[in-house]
Amino acid sequence: ALRLAIFGSPVAQSKSPLIHPMFGRQFGIDIHYDAREAPAGTLADALAAFAAEGGQGGNITAPLKQEVRALATTCSRRVELAGAANTLVRRDGGWHAENTDGAGLVSDLERLGLAPAGKTIIILGAGGATRGALAALLDAGARRIDIYNRTAATAEALARAHADLGDVRGFGFGQLDQARAADLVMNATSLGHHGDLPPLRNALFAPGATCYDFNYGAAATPILGWCAANDIAAHDGLGMLVGQAVVSFEIWTGKRPDPAPVMAFLRGES
Ligand code: ATR
Repeated sequence: ALRLAIFGSPVAQSKSPLIHPMFGRQFGIDIHYDAREAPAGTLADALAAFAAEGGQGGNITAPLKQEVRALATTCSRRVELAGAANTLVRRDGGWHAENTDGAGLVSDLERLGLAPAGKTIIILGAGGATRGALAALLDAGARRIDIYNRTAATAEALARAHADLGDVRGFGFGQLDQARAADLVMNATSLGHHGDLPPLRNALFAPGATCYDFNYGAAATPILGWCAANDIAAHDGLGMLVGQAVVSFEIWTGKRPDPAPVMAFLRGES
């Protein structure tokens, strides 16, 4: 069996221990995937123990996504740009860190017929989720990305850090009245977790534009409701969650699973 685990705190809510064994069954690969509670500062010991047990790879979730960089022997360019990793794979007696969040988002957008190539994009929020997504969206050919955040300086710094990759600019929410309408409007704020809406307005959406919420489940209901009331097509981020798992699974096994059955299962479960 392939021995995998997710490390984080809290970790019990993670869907990864459900998702990866389901992916494995698509190829007849036996996946042993468990969830390991690891508070901040404990990851080094947890990873050493896991390696000693024969652990071959895994995922990293909050609050360890930054901490893992210093523990990994090697980090991909995506990890450097995102400042965070969500995936580990055992390589040459050490851990190689990857970030598949952005690639997972892009693969979900492609699945939805919303491939970023040539598109203009607005992202609301400039936290870890946006940091993870930017390089993948720009590498996938996004024509322009305008990031709007409550704290303008964070959005501006993120834009500067990605300036080599394409046309990306950062603004404060106070500048939304002058925003240029985009083909894709994405929510990467955590406001939905409190039942709140980010500062959406119709003028952000170019004709035929789509809204994509990085949240899923209850946290996505404020935005999905606003979009329904305003006749705007909208998607939640469940496909992004499954998408990052698809890319991680491919790193571990060399096989690219079909997200559809897992999506259907998770939709039915919630
Ligand atoms: P994640 O990893 O989900 O991105 P995060 O890194 O904590 O979480 O980022 C949360 C995002 O939601 C940030 O863009 C944050 O804005 P700030 O950079 O100004 O903090 C945004 N956010 C959180 N609470 C908010 C609120 N009450 N109003 C507006 N934006 C909020």
